[in-house]
Amino acid sequence: VIVCVTPNPCVDRTLLLPRLARGEVNLASSAQAVAGGKGNNVARVLTSFGEEVRAVMPLGGPTGALVAELLRVRDGIEPTVVPTERETREVVTLVEGEGKTLTALFEPTPQMSGAEAGAFAAAVTDAARGADVVCICGSVMAGETEDLYARLVAAGRSGGAKVILDGKGRALSSGLRARPDAAKLNADEVADAFGSGTSADDALAELEGIGIGWSVISLGESGAVASHDGARYDALPPPVSVVNPVASGDAMTAGLALAIRRGMAAEDALRLAAGCGAANAERMDACRFSAAEAEALAARVTVRKRGEG
Ligand SMILES: Nc1ncnc2c1ncn2[C@@H]1O[C@H](COP(=O)(O)OP(=O)(O)OP(=O)(O)O)[C@@H](O)[C@H]1O
Ligand SMILES: [Mg+2]
Repeated sequence: VIVCVTPNPCVDRTLLLPRLARGEVNLASSAQAVAGGKGNNVARVLTSFGEEVRAVMPLGGPTGALVAELLRVRDGIEPTVVPTERETREVVTLVEGEGKTLTALFEPTPQMSGAEAGAFAAAVTDAARGADVVCICGSVMAGETEDLYARLVAAGRSGGAKVILDGKGRALSSGLRARPDAAKLNADEVADAFGSGTSADDALAELEGIGIGWSVISLGESGAVASHDGARYDALPPPVSVVNPVASGDAMTAGLALAIRRGMAAEDALRLAAGCGAANAERMDACRFSAAEAEALAARVTVRKRGEG
């Protein structure tokens, strides 16, 4: 069982347009909504791989109810919901000209109260019982969430599961210091945690210093650098025809979770994680690719352990 925690879920609505005309009525050629938020994207990938997932998230208001319904109907996932007073947000992405130009519109992030944060951490403790891996993914809401990642890491670990943190923003630093088993960061998140100008290698050294055994820093189409049990690795994905790379990081986190759950060796884990990221980039929908697609790309990822040939 893999638990996917989404501290700040949303409805992700995508509209396709030939061209956006500002200040005018724009008629979309197609529209669709999916249950958004990074943990939900991770859960979607893991479901495609046949994994049993538990998806835990705070939800509020009619938009929150829609997230839960989309998970059930489109993804076959029954969510574990912590009710919030504030309404869950919607994110609208406008895709123009066959995916060449993407414009994302985010509603303001809702506030979470201290009591709601406590109930959320308690729900994660419950869901983590008997689980193999707990993934904590994406931003946290505004409000009393300064130490939320740290609390969720502790909650995830309480039943003995391995915890992966893929967070961002101001709360990330304290979350990493709570010492998850694995961390996945991109360049922006390296800056959030360790200051702008920190190189990927310096960030790996910081993460090793905290005592995090598995760290992956993703670099988009350039692949990723990683640290596992003191050794450093470079992963280079094969070239793919990119349709929409948004959420490739979530796909990568899902691959890492799967690899940890299966006890895979570091090189194979990185191949699978980068293969999932590349598979996501080849499709318009976030994290809706098949296990076969990801595995075919994983076989073409080059992984090099530093200090070896
Ligand atoms: N264009 C691409 N071609 C091949 N692989 C890609 C491409 N973009 C991303 N990937 C793979 O996916 C991984 C994660 O992508 P990226 O670094 O963009 O994550 P991210 O910034 O966390 O993304 P997001 O937050 O949108 O999920 C990369 O390390 C790489 O292996
Ligand atoms: Mg990411």
